[in-house]
Amino acid sequence: MAAAPSEPPKTDAPLHVAIVMDGNGRWAKRRGLPRSLGHRAGVEALKRTVAVAPELGIKWLTVFGFSTENWSRPAAEVSELMALPKRYFESDLARLEREGVRVRCWGRRQGLSADLVKMLTDAEARTAHNEVFNLNIAFNYGGQADIVDAARRFAEEVAAGRADPADLNEAVFTQHLSTGAAPPPDMIIRPSGEQRLSNFLLWEAAYAEFIFQDVLWPDFNAEHLKAAIEEYRRRDRRYGGAAADDVLAAG
Ligand code: IPE
Ligand code: MG
Repeated sequence: MAAAPSEPPKTDAPLHVAIVMDGNGRWAKRRGLPRSLGHRAGVEALKRTVAVAPELGIKWLTVFGFSTENWSRPAAEVSELMALPKRYFESDLARLEREGVRVRCWGRRQGLSADLVKMLTDAEARTAHNEVFNLNIAFNYGGQADIVDAARRFAEEVAAGRADPADLNEAVFTQHLSTGAAPPPDMIIRPSGEQRLSNFLLWEAAYAEFIFQDVLWPDFNAEHLKAAIEEYRRRDRRYGGAAADDVLAAG
């Protein structure tokens, strides 16, 4: 929830950083490699980012792995993208579990293979007791789809007599989203030079700071993350309130 303007949130508070992992294809193309190798290099960038994030005051890290719109890519590329969670969890899940990282997988399970659903569900279950750090992987996720699914869930509760339409408010709606357990993102980083949200965290991004960087995701490293946080710290977050100086001047 947004803080009242008289109590600006501390900009040194633990951060929720969300990242649109973009630019894998261009990274591969520049090297004359198949796009699949760009996606694999993207997984390495994810590993680096997860490793360094806790040291930078980040408590929540959310990454966009596969969007509900990515199904329109060629079948071979979709298969490669579908194989990435396995690639990542096989090499890293045991360590995440040991180091206190809680993994959540956001997005629709429908449309994913039974194996993949099991893998995502297992990763969540194995780390459900962890609380040092939170890693959310948005996979088969779309902001609009998630809002529609939340609306459907609430409507089903009403139809079953378990909820009353008069009780619906922003907080209740948020709880029905697949992202509901997390605080809203403080900043959304998009590398690769593209400057759009692409259906990521539409509801949750209401007061997020946007940071666009000219680096392709497979080249993303700790320095890019530090630079993004430094830029974020310089921003004046107002949540619809007035700037602190103007409030003083208005007396
Ligand atoms: C991000 O890289 C991976 C996903 C969207 C799943 P891209 O594949 O979008 O890379 P570009 O945009 O073609 O460079
Ligand atoms: Mg892209």
